[in-house]
Amino acid sequence: PALRWHAQDGLTFDDVPLAAIAAEHGTPSWIYSAATLRNRLTLLQTTFATIGLTPAIRFAVKANDHLAILNLLRQGGNGVGAGADVTSAGEFARAAAAGIAPAAMVYSGVGKREDEIAAALAAGIGQFNVESAEELAMISAIATAANRIAPVALRVNPDIAAGGHDKISTGRATDKFGIPLHQAAALYRHAARLPGIRAIGFSTHIGSQIFSPTPFEAAYHRILDLIDSLMAEGATITAFDLGGGFGIPYDDGIAFPLGAYAAMVKRLIGDRALDLTIEPGRWLVAPAGILLARVTLTKATEAADFTILDAGMNDLIRPALYDANHGIVPVGAIDAASPPRPTEIVGPVCESSDRFGRYDLPALKPGALVAILDAGAYGAVMSSTYNARPRAAQILIDRGQPHLIRMRQPIDQLWHDEIIPHA
Ligand code: LLP
Repeated sequence: PALRWHAQDGLTFDDVPLAAIAAEHGTPSWIYSAATLRNRLTLLQTTFATIGLTPAIRFAVKANDHLAILNLLRQGGNGVGAGADVTSAGEFARAAAAGIAPAAMVYSGVGKREDEIAAALAAGIGQFNVESAEELAMISAIATAANRIAPVALRVNPDIAAGGHDKISTGRATDKFGIPLHQAAALYRHAARLPGIRAIGFSTHIGSQIFSPTPFEAAYHRILDLIDSLMAEGATITAFDLGGGFGIPYDDGIAFPLGAYAAMVKRLIGDRALDLTIEPGRWLVAPAGILLARVTLTKATEAADFTILDAGMNDLIRPALYDANHGIVPVGAIDAASPPRPTEIVGPVCESSDRFGRYDLPALKPGALVAILDAGAYGAVMSSTYNARPRAAQILIDRGQPHLIRMRQPIDQLWHDEIIPHA
Protein backbone atom coordinates (compact mmCIF):
# COMPACT_ATOMS: atom_id res chain seq x y z
CA PRO A 1 0.00 0.00 0.00
CA ALA A 2 1.10 3.52 -0.75
CA LEU A 3 0.35 4.77 2.80
CA ARG A 4 2.62 3.43 5.53
CA TRP A 5 3.32 4.29 9.11
CA HIS A 6 6.97 5.01 9.85
CA ALA A 7 8.24 5.25 13.43
CA GLN A 8 10.27 8.43 12.91
CA ASP A 9 8.60 10.09 9.95
CA GLY A 10 4.97 9.39 10.72
CA LEU A 11 2.68 8.61 7.83
CA THR A 12 4.43 8.22 4.48
CA PHE A 13 2.97 8.07 0.97
CA ASP A 14 5.11 6.01 -1.41
CA ASP A 15 7.80 6.31 1.28
CA VAL A 16 7.77 10.12 1.23
CA PRO A 17 6.91 11.58 4.66
CA LEU A 18 3.70 13.56 4.35
CA ALA A 19 4.96 16.01 6.97
CA ALA A 20 7.84 16.87 4.64
CA ILE A 21 5.45 17.54 1.76
CA ALA A 22 3.31 19.75 4.00
CA ALA A 23 6.42 21.65 5.13
CA GLU A 24 7.50 22.26 1.54
CA HIS A 25 4.20 22.84 -0.24
CA GLY A 26 1.75 23.75 2.51
CA THR A 27 -1.80 22.55 3.04
CA PRO A 28 -4.36 21.72 1.83
CA SER A 29 -2.65 19.75 -0.94
CA TRP A 30 -3.68 16.88 -3.20
CA ILE A 31 -1.03 14.18 -3.36
CA TYR A 32 -1.01 11.39 -5.93
CA SER A 33 0.96 8.16 -6.16
CA ALA A 34 2.12 7.39 -9.70
CA ALA A 35 2.98 3.84 -8.65
CA THR A 36 -0.56 3.19 -7.40
CA LEU A 37 -2.00 4.56 -10.61
CA ARG A 38 0.24 2.37 -12.79
CA ASN A 39 -0.43 -0.68 -10.64
CA ARG A 40 -4.19 -0.26 -10.85
CA LEU A 41 -4.12 0.14 -14.61
CA THR A 42 -1.96 -2.98 -14.91
CA LEU A 43 -4.24 -4.91 -12.55
CA LEU A 44 -7.27 -3.90 -14.59
CA GLN A 45 -5.61 -4.98 -17.82
CA THR A 46 -4.27 -8.29 -16.51
CA THR A 47 -7.57 -9.21 -14.86
CA PHE A 48 -9.21 -9.15 -18.29
CA ALA A 49 -6.19 -10.47 -20.20
CA THR A 50 -5.92 -13.62 -18.08
CA ILE A 51 -9.39 -14.67 -19.22
CA GLY A 52 -8.71 -13.72 -22.82
CA LEU A 53 -10.38 -10.29 -23.01
CA THR A 54 -8.65 -7.06 -24.00
CA PRO A 55 -11.20 -4.28 -23.65
CA ALA A 56 -10.05 -0.84 -24.73
CA ILE A 57 -9.75 1.30 -21.61
CA ARG A 58 -11.16 4.79 -22.00
CA PHE A 59 -10.45 6.57 -18.71
CA ALA A 60 -13.34 8.80 -17.66
CA VAL A 61 -11.46 12.11 -17.65
CA LYS A 62 -14.10 13.75 -15.43
CA ALA A 63 -12.70 11.78 -12.48
CA ASN A 64 -9.30 13.48 -12.68
CA ASP A 65 -8.32 15.66 -15.59
CA HIS A 66 -4.81 16.69 -14.55
CA LEU A 67 -2.45 16.41 -17.52
CA ALA A 68 0.17 14.49 -15.50
CA ILE A 69 -2.45 11.89 -14.49
CA LEU A 70 -3.76 11.56 -18.05
CA ASN A 71 -0.20 11.24 -19.31
CA LEU A 72 0.58 8.44 -16.84
CA LEU A 73 -2.53 6.53 -17.87
CA ARG A 74 -1.74 7.02 -21.55
CA GLN A 75 1.71 5.54 -21.01
CA GLY A 76 0.08 2.53 -19.44
CA GLY A 77 0.76 -0.04 -16.81
CA ASN A 78 2.24 -2.67 -19.10
CA GLY A 79 2.76 -0.96 -22.40
CA VAL A 80 -0.76 -0.41 -23.72
CA GLY A 81 -2.09 2.70 -22.15
CA ALA A 82 -5.57 4.03 -21.61
CA GLY A 83 -7.44 6.31 -23.94
CA ALA A 84 -10.05 8.76 -22.73
CA ASP A 85 -13.79 9.09 -22.23
CA VAL A 86 -14.40 12.81 -22.61
CA THR A 87 -17.51 14.85 -22.08
CA SER A 88 -16.69 18.41 -23.13
CA ALA A 89 -14.40 20.42 -25.39
CA GLY A 90 -12.28 21.09 -22.33
CA GLU A 91 -11.85 17.41 -21.48
CA PHE A 92 -11.15 16.63 -25.13
CA ALA A 93 -8.47 19.34 -25.21
CA ARG A 94 -6.95 18.18 -21.93
CA ALA A 95 -6.73 14.57 -23.10
CA ALA A 96 -5.22 15.68 -26.41
CA ALA A 97 -2.74 17.93 -24.57
CA ALA A 98 -1.67 14.88 -22.55
CA GLY A 99 -0.89 13.08 -25.80
CA ILE A 100 -3.97 10.86 -26.05
CA ALA A 101 -4.87 10.30 -29.71
CA PRO A 102 -8.42 11.37 -30.63
CA ALA A 103 -8.88 7.90 -32.15
CA ALA A 104 -8.46 6.53 -28.61
CA MET A 105 -11.23 8.74 -27.25
CA VAL A 106 -14.96 8.26 -26.87
CA TYR A 107 -17.18 11.31 -26.54
CA SER A 108 -20.00 10.97 -23.98
CA GLY A 109 -22.62 13.31 -22.62
CA VAL A 110 -26.26 14.32 -23.11
CA GLY A 111 -25.49 17.87 -24.13
CA LYS A 112 -22.71 17.86 -26.72
CA ARG A 113 -22.67 21.23 -28.42
CA GLU A 114 -22.46 21.70 -32.18
CA ASP A 115 -19.00 23.25 -32.04
CA GLU A 116 -17.79 20.48 -29.73
CA ILE A 117 -19.06 17.80 -32.11
CA ALA A 118 -17.55 19.52 -35.14
CA ALA A 119 -14.14 19.89 -33.49
CA ALA A 120 -14.02 16.31 -32.22
CA LEU A 121 -15.08 15.02 -35.63
CA ALA A 122 -12.45 17.10 -37.44
CA ALA A 123 -9.79 15.76 -35.06
CA GLY A 124 -10.78 12.16 -35.74
CA ILE A 125 -12.57 11.13 -32.55
CA GLY A 126 -12.81 7.34 -32.17
CA GLN A 127 -16.48 7.17 -31.17
CA PHE A 128 -19.45 9.31 -30.23
CA ASN A 129 -21.69 7.74 -27.61
CA VAL A 130 -24.99 9.19 -28.74
CA GLU A 131 -27.69 9.78 -26.15
CA SER A 132 -30.78 10.70 -28.18
CA ALA A 133 -32.43 10.70 -31.61
CA GLU A 134 -32.08 14.47 -31.58
CA GLU A 135 -28.33 14.25 -31.03
CA LEU A 136 -28.00 11.64 -33.78
CA ALA A 137 -29.68 14.00 -36.26
CA MET A 138 -27.40 16.80 -35.12
CA ILE A 139 -24.24 14.75 -35.63
CA SER A 140 -25.45 13.54 -39.03
CA ALA A 141 -26.00 17.13 -40.18
CA ILE A 142 -22.63 18.33 -38.86
CA ALA A 143 -20.75 15.38 -40.37
CA THR A 144 -22.48 15.72 -43.74
CA ALA A 145 -21.69 19.44 -43.91
CA ALA A 146 -18.06 18.72 -43.04
CA ASN A 147 -17.94 15.80 -45.49
CA ARG A 148 -16.94 13.43 -42.71
CA ILE A 149 -18.20 10.17 -41.29
CA ALA A 150 -18.90 10.05 -37.54
CA PRO A 151 -18.41 6.68 -35.80
CA VAL A 152 -21.44 6.31 -33.56
CA ALA A 153 -22.46 4.00 -30.74
CA LEU A 154 -25.93 4.45 -29.29
CA ARG A 155 -25.94 4.80 -25.51
CA VAL A 156 -28.75 2.64 -24.22
CA ASN A 157 -30.60 3.39 -21.01
CA PRO A 158 -31.40 -0.17 -19.87
CA ASP A 159 -33.68 0.94 -17.02
CA ILE A 160 -31.59 -0.62 -14.26
CA ALA A 161 -31.25 0.87 -10.79
CA ALA A 162 -27.63 0.83 -9.63
CA GLY A 163 -25.12 3.15 -8.07
CA GLY A 164 -23.89 4.14 -4.68
CA HIS A 165 -26.07 7.20 -4.40
CA ASP A 166 -29.19 8.60 -6.02
CA LYS A 167 -27.20 11.49 -7.47
CA ILE A 168 -24.83 9.19 -9.35
CA SER A 169 -27.32 6.67 -10.77
CA THR A 170 -27.67 7.06 -14.51
CA GLY A 171 -29.35 3.95 -15.92
CA ARG A 172 -32.94 4.29 -14.75
CA ALA A 173 -35.69 5.20 -17.19
CA THR A 174 -36.24 8.43 -15.26
CA ASP A 175 -32.60 9.53 -15.61
CA LYS A 176 -31.70 11.91 -18.40
CA PHE A 177 -29.13 9.55 -19.89
CA GLY A 178 -29.23 7.33 -22.93
CA ILE A 179 -31.83 6.06 -25.35
CA PRO A 180 -34.73 4.04 -23.92
CA LEU A 181 -34.15 0.34 -24.56
CA HIS A 182 -37.38 -0.12 -26.53
CA GLN A 183 -36.43 2.67 -28.95
CA ALA A 184 -32.84 1.57 -29.47
CA ALA A 185 -33.36 -0.98 -32.27
CA ALA A 186 -35.37 1.37 -34.47
CA LEU A 187 -32.90 4.19 -33.88
CA TYR A 188 -29.98 1.93 -34.78
CA ARG A 189 -31.64 0.92 -38.06
CA HIS A 190 -32.21 4.61 -38.72
CA ALA A 191 -28.59 5.48 -37.81
CA ALA A 192 -27.26 2.86 -40.20
CA ARG A 193 -28.98 4.67 -43.09
CA LEU A 194 -28.15 8.25 -42.07
CA PRO A 195 -25.61 10.23 -44.10
CA GLY A 196 -22.43 11.13 -42.24
CA ILE A 197 -22.93 8.35 -39.69
CA ARG A 198 -21.21 5.00 -39.32
CA ALA A 199 -23.26 3.04 -36.82
CA ILE A 200 -20.77 0.79 -35.00
CA GLY A 201 -22.67 -0.46 -31.96
CA PHE A 202 -23.89 0.32 -28.49
CA SER A 203 -22.73 1.73 -25.19
CA THR A 204 -24.16 1.99 -21.71
CA HIS A 205 -23.23 3.43 -18.33
CA ILE A 206 -25.59 2.66 -15.48
CA GLY A 207 -24.07 4.61 -12.61
CA SER A 208 -21.09 5.07 -10.36
CA GLN A 209 -19.76 3.52 -7.16
CA ILE A 210 -21.42 0.16 -7.91
CA PHE A 211 -20.19 -2.94 -6.10
CA SER A 212 -22.18 -5.84 -7.46
CA PRO A 213 -21.73 -7.25 -10.97
CA THR A 214 -25.47 -8.09 -10.95
CA PRO A 215 -26.88 -4.76 -12.25
CA PHE A 216 -24.14 -4.67 -14.88
CA GLU A 217 -25.09 -8.20 -15.93
CA ALA A 218 -28.77 -7.29 -16.19
CA ALA A 219 -27.96 -4.24 -18.32
CA TYR A 220 -25.52 -6.06 -20.60
CA HIS A 221 -27.96 -8.92 -21.01
CA ARG A 222 -30.64 -6.56 -22.32
CA ILE A 223 -28.24 -4.87 -24.71
CA LEU A 224 -26.81 -8.14 -26.02
CA ASP A 225 -30.36 -9.32 -26.78
CA LEU A 226 -30.79 -6.13 -28.76
CA ILE A 227 -27.49 -6.66 -30.57
CA ASP A 228 -28.42 -10.27 -31.41
CA SER A 229 -31.78 -9.38 -32.86
CA LEU A 230 -30.35 -6.54 -34.94
CA MET A 231 -27.54 -8.74 -36.23
CA ALA A 232 -30.06 -11.42 -37.13
CA GLU A 233 -31.64 -8.80 -39.41
CA GLY A 234 -28.24 -8.22 -40.99
CA ALA A 235 -27.12 -5.11 -39.09
CA THR A 236 -23.40 -4.49 -38.69
CA ILE A 237 -22.42 -4.18 -35.02
CA THR A 238 -18.81 -4.30 -33.90
CA ALA A 239 -18.63 -2.16 -30.76
CA PHE A 240 -19.95 -2.65 -27.25
CA ASP A 241 -18.93 -0.07 -24.66
CA LEU A 242 -19.63 -1.44 -21.18
CA GLY A 243 -19.28 1.90 -19.36
CA GLY A 244 -17.65 2.51 -16.01
CA GLY A 245 -18.96 2.69 -12.47
CA PHE A 246 -16.76 0.20 -10.60
CA GLY A 247 -16.85 1.05 -6.90
CA ILE A 248 -13.96 1.53 -4.50
CA PRO A 249 -14.01 1.06 -0.72
CA TYR A 250 -14.08 4.39 1.08
CA ASP A 251 -14.32 3.70 4.79
CA ASP A 252 -16.55 0.63 4.51
CA GLY A 253 -13.95 -1.82 3.24
CA ILE A 254 -16.07 -3.31 0.42
CA ALA A 255 -14.05 -3.80 -2.77
CA PHE A 256 -15.36 -4.19 -6.31
CA PRO A 257 -15.09 -7.85 -7.40
CA LEU A 258 -13.17 -7.12 -10.57
CA GLY A 259 -12.38 -10.75 -11.35
CA ALA A 260 -16.03 -11.78 -11.03
CA TYR A 261 -17.07 -8.82 -13.16
CA ALA A 262 -14.60 -9.74 -15.92
CA ALA A 263 -15.71 -13.39 -15.79
CA MET A 264 -19.34 -12.29 -16.08
CA VAL A 265 -18.51 -10.16 -19.13
CA LYS A 266 -16.64 -13.06 -20.73
CA ARG A 267 -19.56 -15.44 -20.06
CA LEU A 268 -22.13 -13.01 -21.46
CA ILE A 269 -20.17 -12.07 -24.57
CA GLY A 270 -19.43 -15.70 -25.39
CA ASP A 271 -18.20 -16.06 -28.95
CA ARG A 272 -19.69 -12.84 -30.28
CA ALA A 273 -17.09 -10.84 -32.21
CA LEU A 274 -17.42 -7.49 -30.43
CA ASP A 275 -14.76 -4.89 -29.69
CA LEU A 276 -15.24 -4.14 -26.01
CA THR A 277 -14.58 -0.84 -24.26
CA ILE A 278 -14.71 0.09 -20.58
CA GLU A 279 -14.86 3.63 -19.14
CA PRO A 280 -13.61 3.44 -15.56
CA GLY A 281 -12.85 6.67 -13.72
CA ARG A 282 -13.04 6.34 -9.95
CA TRP A 283 -11.65 2.80 -9.73
CA LEU A 284 -8.40 3.80 -11.42
CA VAL A 285 -7.61 7.04 -9.62
CA ALA A 286 -9.49 7.37 -6.31
CA PRO A 287 -7.10 5.20 -4.25
CA ALA A 288 -4.09 6.90 -5.87
CA GLY A 289 -4.79 10.26 -4.25
CA ILE A 290 -5.13 11.84 -0.82
CA LEU A 291 -5.98 15.29 0.41
CA LEU A 292 -3.48 16.47 3.00
CA ALA A 293 -4.88 18.98 5.48
CA ARG A 294 -3.90 20.63 8.73
CA VAL A 295 -5.95 21.10 11.86
CA THR A 296 -6.57 24.82 12.29
CA LEU A 297 -8.45 24.66 15.57
CA THR A 298 -10.33 22.35 17.81
CA LYS A 299 -13.53 23.50 19.42
CA ALA A 300 -15.63 21.86 22.10
CA THR A 301 -19.31 22.62 22.46
CA GLU A 302 -21.97 20.89 24.51
CA ALA A 303 -23.09 19.10 21.38
CA ALA A 304 -19.78 17.84 20.04
CA ASP A 305 -16.04 18.15 19.75
CA PHE A 306 -15.17 19.78 16.46
CA THR A 307 -11.86 19.42 14.64
CA ILE A 308 -11.58 22.22 12.10
CA LEU A 309 -9.34 21.59 9.08
CA ASP A 310 -7.84 24.00 6.57
CA ALA A 311 -9.47 21.90 3.81
CA GLY A 312 -13.15 22.31 3.19
CA MET A 313 -16.06 21.54 0.91
CA ASN A 314 -14.60 23.89 -1.68
CA ASP A 315 -11.70 21.42 -1.94
CA LEU A 316 -13.51 18.09 -1.52
CA ILE A 317 -17.25 18.37 -2.02
CA ARG A 318 -18.08 14.65 -1.99
CA PRO A 319 -19.10 14.47 1.71
CA ALA A 320 -21.38 17.50 1.35
CA LEU A 321 -22.87 16.36 -1.96
CA TYR A 322 -23.19 12.59 -1.54
CA ASP A 323 -22.70 11.99 2.20
CA ALA A 324 -19.46 10.28 1.25
CA ASN A 325 -17.26 9.07 4.08
CA HIS A 326 -13.61 9.30 3.20
CA GLY A 327 -11.21 7.68 5.63
CA ILE A 328 -9.28 10.25 7.67
CA VAL A 329 -6.01 9.35 9.39
CA PRO A 330 -3.53 11.34 11.48
CA VAL A 331 -0.15 11.95 9.86
CA GLY A 332 1.96 12.63 12.93
CA ALA A 333 2.69 10.63 16.06
CA ILE A 334 -0.38 10.15 18.17
CA ASP A 335 -0.52 10.49 21.90
CA ALA A 336 -0.72 6.93 23.20
CA ALA A 337 -2.39 8.26 26.36
CA SER A 338 -5.22 9.71 24.31
CA PRO A 339 -7.70 7.02 23.29
CA PRO A 340 -9.70 7.54 20.10
CA ARG A 341 -12.85 9.55 20.72
CA PRO A 342 -15.56 10.84 18.45
CA THR A 343 -14.92 14.17 16.79
CA GLU A 344 -16.77 16.08 14.10
CA ILE A 345 -14.29 16.81 11.34
CA VAL A 346 -15.30 19.99 9.54
CA GLY A 347 -13.87 22.56 7.15
CA PRO A 348 -13.65 26.35 7.41
CA VAL A 349 -16.41 27.18 4.89
CA CYS A 350 -19.45 29.04 6.18
CA GLU A 351 -21.99 26.28 5.63
CA SER A 352 -23.06 23.46 7.89
CA SER A 353 -22.65 21.03 4.97
CA ASP A 354 -18.91 21.73 5.09
CA ARG A 355 -18.41 18.64 7.17
CA PHE A 356 -16.32 15.52 6.45
CA GLY A 357 -18.08 13.41 9.06
CA ARG A 358 -17.85 12.00 12.56
CA TYR A 359 -14.66 10.05 13.22
CA ASP A 360 -13.14 8.22 16.16
CA LEU A 361 -9.68 9.71 16.42
CA PRO A 362 -7.03 10.39 19.08
CA ALA A 363 -6.97 14.04 20.12
CA LEU A 364 -5.66 16.16 17.26
CA LYS A 365 -4.05 19.42 18.31
CA PRO A 366 -3.99 22.55 16.18
CA GLY A 367 -1.18 22.17 13.67
CA ALA A 368 -1.60 18.39 13.39
CA LEU A 369 -1.78 16.97 9.87
CA VAL A 370 -4.39 14.54 8.59
CA ALA A 371 -4.71 12.61 5.35
CA ILE A 372 -8.15 12.36 3.76
CA LEU A 373 -8.06 9.13 1.81
CA ASP A 374 -9.22 7.96 -1.61
CA ALA A 375 -9.43 11.50 -2.88
CA GLY A 376 -7.85 10.93 -6.29
CA ALA A 377 -11.19 10.79 -8.14
CA TYR A 378 -13.82 13.54 -8.19
CA GLY A 379 -11.66 15.50 -5.77
CA ALA A 380 -9.60 18.32 -7.29
CA VAL A 381 -11.81 18.33 -10.42
CA MET A 382 -14.87 19.21 -8.37
CA SER A 383 -13.18 21.80 -6.21
CA SER A 384 -14.10 25.46 -6.35
CA THR A 385 -12.91 28.74 -4.95
CA TYR A 386 -16.03 29.23 -2.83
CA ASN A 387 -15.41 31.59 0.10
CA ALA A 388 -12.53 32.90 -2.09
CA ARG A 389 -10.37 30.00 -1.07
CA PRO A 390 -7.62 29.43 -3.65
CA ARG A 391 -7.26 26.05 -5.35
CA ALA A 392 -5.00 23.70 -3.42
CA ALA A 393 -1.58 22.59 -4.65
CA GLN A 394 -1.22 19.20 -6.38
CA ILE A 395 1.80 16.95 -5.97
CA LEU A 396 2.66 13.73 -7.78
CA ILE A 397 5.03 11.24 -6.19
CA ASP A 398 6.83 9.35 -8.94
CA ARG A 399 9.78 6.99 -8.41
CA GLY A 400 10.24 8.22 -4.85
CA GLN A 401 10.25 11.91 -5.77
CA PRO A 402 7.48 14.40 -5.02
CA HIS A 403 6.83 16.72 -7.97
CA LEU A 404 4.71 19.84 -7.73
CA ILE A 405 2.25 19.36 -10.62
CA ARG A 406 0.01 22.31 -9.88
CA MET A 407 1.01 25.26 -7.76
CA ARG A 408 -1.28 26.52 -5.06
CA GLN A 409 -3.39 29.22 -6.68
CA PRO A 410 -1.99 32.61 -5.68
CA ILE A 411 -4.58 34.82 -3.99
CA ASP A 412 -4.45 37.52 -6.69
CA GLN A 413 -5.20 34.87 -9.33
CA LEU A 414 -8.65 34.60 -7.81
CA TRP A 415 -9.67 37.79 -9.65
CA HIS A 416 -7.05 38.11 -12.39
CA ASP A 417 -9.68 37.55 -15.12
CA GLU A 418 -12.31 39.81 -13.59
CA ILE A 419 -13.11 43.20 -15.03
CA ILE A 420 -14.44 46.28 -13.20
CA PRO A 421 -16.42 48.27 -15.79
CA HIS A 422 -15.43 51.93 -16.18
CA ALA A 423 -12.49 51.47 -13.86
N1 LLP B 1 -18.70 6.90 -18.32
C1 LLP B 1 -19.68 7.83 -18.24
C2 LLP B 1 -20.52 8.08 -19.41
C3 LLP B 1 -19.87 8.52 -17.04
O1 LLP B 1 -20.84 9.43 -16.97
C4 LLP B 1 -19.05 8.26 -15.92
C5 LLP B 1 -19.24 8.96 -14.64
C6 LLP B 1 -18.03 7.29 -16.07
C7 LLP B 1 -17.90 6.64 -17.27
C8 LLP B 1 -17.09 6.94 -14.96
O2 LLP B 1 -17.71 6.44 -13.82
P1 LLP B 1 -16.82 5.87 -12.62
O3 LLP B 1 -16.06 4.68 -13.17
O4 LLP B 1 -15.89 6.94 -12.19
O5 LLP B 1 -17.78 5.50 -11.58
N2 LLP B 1 -18.96 12.97 -8.89
C9 LLP B 1 -19.47 11.67 -8.48
C10 LLP B 1 -19.37 10.65 -9.58
C11 LLP B 1 -20.07 11.05 -10.86
C12 LLP B 1 -19.88 10.07 -11.99
C13 LLP B 1 -20.39 10.62 -13.27
N3 LLP B 1 -20.18 9.79 -14.41
C14 LLP B 1 -18.73 11.24 -7.22
O6 LLP B 1 -17.87 11.96 -6.75
O7 LLP B 1 -19.03 10.18 -6.65
